[in-house]
Amino acid sequence: MDMLIKNGVVVSPGGCRPADVRIKSGLIEAVSPRLEPSGEGMIDATGMLLFPGFVDSHTHFDMDAGAFHTADDFASGTAAAVLGGTTTVLDFATQDKGGMLSEALESWTGKASGKSACDYGFHMAITDWNESVAAEIPLMYDQGVTSFKVYMAYDALRLSDAAIYEVLKTVGEIGGIVGVHCENGDLVTVGIAEQKAQGGFSAKYHPRSRPNAVEAEAINRLITIAELAGVPVNIVHISTREGLELVRAAREKGRAVYAETCPQYLLLDESVYEAPGAEASKYVCSPPIRSLEDQKALWDGIANGQIDTIGTDHCSFRYAEEKAPNAGDFASIPNGLPGVQNRPALLYTYGVCAGKISLETMAALLSENTARLFGMYPKKGAIQPGSDADIVIWNPEFSDTVSAERLAHRTDYSPFEGFEIKGRAEHVLLRGRPVVENGRLITTDSGRFVARKHCDFYRHKAVK
Ligand code: URP
Ligand code: ZN
Ligand code: ZN
Repeated sequence: MDMLIKNGVVVSPGGCRPADVRIKSGLIEAVSPRLEPSGEGMIDATGMLLFPGFVDSHTHFDMDAGAFHTADDFASGTAAAVLGGTTTVLDFATQDKGGMLSEALESWTGKASGKSACDYGFHMAITDWNESVAAEIPLMYDQGVTSFKVYMAYDALRLSDAAIYEVLKTVGEIGGIVGVHCENGDLVTVGIAEQKAQGGFSAKYHPRSRPNAVEAEAINRLITIAELAGVPVNIVHISTREGLELVRAAREKGRAVYAETCPQYLLLDESVYEAPGAEASKYVCSPPIRSLEDQKALWDGIANGQIDTIGTDHCSFRYAEEKAPNAGDFASIPNGLPGVQNRPALLYTYGVCAGKISLETMAALLSENTARLFGMYPKKGAIQPGSDADIVIWNPEFSDTVSAERLAHRTDYSPFEGFEIKGRAEHVLLRGRPVVENGRLITTDSGRFVARKHCDFYRHKAVK
């Protein structure tokens, strides 16, 4: 669909500039201070900001988690995403134990295709490493899956240090990247047993079973493993001051370490686990919500450019049916929080409007950095000629309060319930096609698979 967006302000990590944007055949054709209409559709973006479509590189849709299954599938999850301004998600396709990566890719393709409201790609989560699986890594790459994930915790998912080393080396050889869930799985097991032995069963004991050191130890070990393998690595959902400090120190030594955090670690603090009755189960996620001191360290890390991306780790479970009934045994509560719809407005409100970060940094964290690191740039993550016309027309004047009832998430609660928010995705274009108009979803199934290329290690161009 051809379109001219007039009178907006284009936001990119390099700066903000008033510009018109011409879209032709789903791509951006021109970005210029003044473009004349030539018979195409027109959007007047006076007073609006134009962001490159936001990319959320951390979602878990339509996923089994032990006895549970996530509330959001690709239909509801991507509908919520695009309503918030996210035009591409990278979800975690997960290998079954004993299964092959190709089977997981086929399974996730089936879950997403034909029902996604925004574009999507997959990281491949490796849970069972052997020679046959190693041989599949280049095949994944050829099919546009250039990023992978491994877990250092969760007994059903985690790999040994030796396997992680081999995964990192093998993925490094093809120019891909591995994201790692950093918590020491053995210490988590001991921590859970200790809390229970002392009579601690409710959700409030969840964070005590996995204190900061459990994350920091795993990050430290991972950085060592990546150094031995001689490859870049991405640490997902960093939640602690200590973890971020290790990343900073590693980078000072020239290590290629990338860092993600999530809105819940920036905006919630450990007091959520003091909520009465079963309520605290709403906030059970791993790593857990931390202290105000950690929160501040993460915001400082963002302001100082130490954090590369902000993903949501959207992993939604219903409170009434899945969280609350298990609130009496914190280790049985399904782990994860919803948030895919809220991420841009939360970052705009509590980052930009609060004076903690600039609009440019918001564009970097939510769009450009993510697109670069995961091999999609400049197709995604940029408003420039030749890029996909994924554009968020952002209304900076809008204000609202988060209410689970009005979110497209299929959860019966939001961890951000009652949070004041400013700004919203007024209109969203996906490859030039309007998918959100006046804050309402108008197209539900136009999302396509994004075949990605090699990662752009923009931070560390020369890795030893
Ligand atoms: O609690 C969380 N984060 N659940 C989702 C899976 C993961 O660890 O990323
Ligand atoms: Zn994780
Ligand atoms: Zn996750």
